[in-house]
Parts: sequence; structure tokens; C-alpha cells
Amino acid sequence: MNRVYMDANATTPLLPEVVEAMRPYWMEHFGNASSIHQDGQQARTAVDRARETIAGFFNCRDAEVVFNSGGTEGDNTAIFGLLHPGDHFITTSIEHSAILQPAHRMAERGVETTFVAPRPSGLIDPADILRAMRPETRLISVMLANNETGVLQPVEEIGKIAADAGMFFHIDAVQGAGKVAFDVRRFGCHLLSISAHKVHGPKGVGALFVRRGTPLEPLILGGSHERRLRAGTVNTPGIVGLARAAELALHSLEDGTIDRLGALRDRLEAGLLQIPGSSVNGAWDGSKPVPRVANTTNISFERLEGEALVIALDLKGISVSGGSACHSGATEPSHVLMAMGLDRNSALASLRFSLLKTATEADVDYVLKIVPEAVAHLRELSPVAAGTLG
Ligand SMILES: Cc1ncc(COP(=O)(O)O)c(C=O)c1O
Repeated sequence: MNRVYMDANATTPLLPEVVEAMRPYWMEHFGNASSIHQDGQQARTAVDRARETIAGFFNCRDAEVVFNSGGTEGDNTAIFGLLHPGDHFITTSIEHSAILQPAHRMAERGVETTFVAPRPSGLIDPADILRAMRPETRLISVMLANNETGVLQPVEEIGKIAADAGMFFHIDAVQGAGKVAFDVRRFGCHLLSISAHKVHGPKGVGALFVRRGTPLEPLILGGSHERRLRAGTVNTPGIVGLARAAELALHSLEDGTIDRLGALRDRLEAGLLQIPGSSVNGAWDGSKPVPRVANTTNISFERLEGEALVIALDLKGISVSGGSACHSGATEPSHVLMAMGLDRNSALASLRFSLLKTATEADVDYVLKIVPEAVAHLRELSPVAAGTLG
């Protein structure tokens, strides 16, 4: 059975060009980029070149790029590296757990956090960020694109508000990178996290933009790597892979690939909305369409359990995600959809379809054939159909 992978927001496969770029750095050029001999210098040159590429991707100076282990580390570094007891932190209730959990930990250390809620559309209102500000607010962190709905947040406006107030601004750009044009100067941020594995690069590597002069303390202490901002022997193959993936992502933004992907997503969404009792989460703000990344749609199918549908589709060769999380054995609805005001059953009945940039018309045709059948079948079987889901 051919599989159709529509879970690109969870992770993406490496592109062949990325594997080829990385290959020499596992074996022939295995040196430690901190060593002064030739083997080390070969690795150093590759890391320097990758740094230039990522600086171009961010639109920053080379010295403002810190390589790390990915999005979770970038997000943690922003929070633990800037906040001190007595500070106030503003973020949103729809962030990834890589922001929410550090915020909860900081509460134990005397940093209070305000979690700004989105509008029902999934959009954060910059006016709500402004209202949350206090004299002791030090850091604001807002994601570029939400991982569950794909909704793009008004980070440029929030950047201006932060600048006017003299506050630090971090963007979790893990889900926006490679999907929309990128520019840390235009965003007005001090810090911005990306992760390679969301853009067809390797897992366990990422980069953090740190604007010059930002008084960031390192999360990981040890050697003097990465201008003392992130200790640990640098992951040369991973960094080379990240840079190659970023180059290819930029190319895809320019050559029409992402526009084609948007059209494919729109066709998928329109087809899924033909299913009775289905609706999109995060598509409309009143009568206005919400800005979204091109590859994502999040759909509620009334009167069924999303998890059951994920399993049914998996058996038919389709990989998608539900928004729910399993906590202590109980299925909990997505915190993102709940924050948008969905009721518990609708949140539990939601699925995220996130397309790879290599998705085809045939992939969409197959999903549009299978999902309506699976939904109808589950509704026949499921006790939810009889209204027993509490
Ligand atoms: C919005 C967002 N932030 C952070 C992360 C964490 O990134 P990583 O997997 O590189 O640690 C993810 C991954 O799902 C994400 O979607």
C-alpha cells in the first residue's frame, strides 16, 4: 500500500540534496570544528559557510546565528536566558509546549506570565499584547505560525509594540520557516527559533537568531562554542543539512512551489468541507480570511472522535494528526483549539492535515476518497453518534 503522509507539521523527510550535502561530514570530514588542525578546519569552514547561509535566511549578521539542537532548545533558551525573578513575561495560550512548559517552570522562580488568548479565529490581537504589558514586562514571545491551525500571527505589529515599550521580543518561527518570507529585521525581534526537521532537514538541529547586544545567558554551559551562547561540540553534518534545507526552502518560496501547495491545500479543504458536519478551525476572522501557512488545514468532524479517525486513516495508509494529547492515560483536547473557544467535543473531533511541499494531486485525490468513507463508517459505529460523549 502506498502511504500518503499529511503530517508535515510533525516532521518532514530529508530531501536528497540535504543528505548529499551532509554525507562528507560524517566520514571523510569528521573533524571537530574547534580543532586547529586541517581536519578541524575543514569542519570549521563548513560551519562558517552554513552560518552565512542561515544569516541570509534570517537577514542578520553571521555573528547573530547560534546553532543548537532545535526548536525546543531555542524556545527554552529565550525564556531561561532572559528572564529573572520579578520579571513579567507575556506569551500566548496557543504556543507550543516548548514555550508553555518553561513559562510554568519560571513561575516557580518568581516570573509571572500572562498567557494572551487568541480570538476565535486563532489570531492573537496585538492590542491584547499591549494591554498585558506592565512596567516589569521584560520579554514577549509569540509564534509566527501555529503548528495546529497554521494561522500566521501579526508578529511585525507585535515587534513594533515591543520596540516602543523597550521590551525583548522572541518569535518561535519553527512552523513559519520555509513557508513564508522571513526577515528578523522586519519582524523586529531580538530572538527567533527555527528547527531543521520541519523544513526537510535533519532532526535534532536548529538555530536561534540572537540580535547583537541582547543580554542572553546560555542555557548550556561548557566550552566556548557559538560565542559562548551554546556549549557543546558543534553538530557539523546537522548544521550543513540545516543550511542546505534552508536554501532549498527559500527556493521553494520563490519558484511557485509554496503557491502550488496552497492551491492543493485549498482543494483538499474544499473537498473535506463537503462532508456533513465539518468545519475549518482558524480560517475566518469574521468575514475576513485569516492569514495561514500554505500547507495546513485543521478540520472538525462533528460527532466523531478525532483519535479514532486518525487510526482509521492510518490503516488506509494516510498519516495525519489529531490535536489531542494523552495526559495520564486520558485523552485531552488540544489546548490551541480550546483557547480558540471550541467546545471539548469539537476539539476532540478535530484533525490536522499538513502537506509536504512534495504533495501531489494524487495524494489529495486519495485522501478525498478515503476520509468521507472513514467518517461515515465511524459515525455509524461510534457511540459519539448517539450523543454519549460527555
Ligand atoms: C511551534 C513549534 N515550536 C517548537 C517546536 C519544537 O521543535 P523541535 O522539535 O525542533 O524541538 C515545534 C515542534 O513541533 C513546533 O511546532
